[in-house]
Amino acid sequence: MRKFDDPEEIIIAPSILAADWSRLAEEVARAIRSGADWLHLDVMDGHFVDNISFGPQFVQTLTSTNDFFYDVHLMIERPDHYLDRFIKAGADNLTVHVEANHDVAESLRRIRAAGVKAGLSLRPETDFSLVEPYLDQIDLLLVMTVVPGFGGQKFMLETMASVAAAKKYREARGLSFHIEVDGGIYEETAVTARDHGANVLVAGTAAFGAPDMTAAVRALRG
Ligand code: DX5
Ligand code: ZN
Repeated sequence: MRKFDDPEEIIIAPSILAADWSRLAEEVARAIRSGADWLHLDVMDGHFVDNISFGPQFVQTLTSTNDFFYDVHLMIERPDHYLDRFIKAGADNLTVHVEANHDVAESLRRIRAAGVKAGLSLRPETDFSLVEPYLDQIDLLLVMTVVPGFGGQKFMLETMASVAAAKKYREARGLSFHIEVDGGIYEETAVTARDHGANVLVAGTAAFGAPDMTAAVRALRG
């Protein structure tokens, strides 16, 4: 279901990284049937993170087979070099990392100019002050709650400081960007993340790994 307007509404975004890639079309259909709101697509280039996942053509395959909201997370060194291809591939939200090798403000401007929601992400070890200069130019802040690169890792509680700082900053300046968390999100850690101010919850293992995905999505929503 397409939702983007209210940063208070809880949005559940299963990450395709944890899906059964041998049955991808059915897995996406399962996610849609489960009541999830977005599909989170983890793009990895083997440079920005120590893993390689998929590119624009893979994203295009998904977006052209199911009408849904596609939340594309670019864990790549040169997002500026690929923005046009992921926009063309049908991304509804396109998130770039503040640590990557690009002009962050210019990338965010180009994403919005294409009519796509603009997201900015920071790794667990990155200080929140690094994203502050851009918070008035984004629709979504993605606080990584694991070191990016792999699913199935343990939630890092210390990242809640950035979630709380983002919420405080947003309220102080009357902004309305979504706060998304990503990595190690299960029923219990979803409560912690929501309590600190996150409203978009990415779940790979906890969603696609669940025998009953509908129940898993409901549990994550709280
Ligand atoms: C990690 C990805 C996450 C990951 C989440 O780099 O950005 O989206 O797939 O997977 P789980 O929910 O299994 O930790
Ligand atoms: Zn992700």
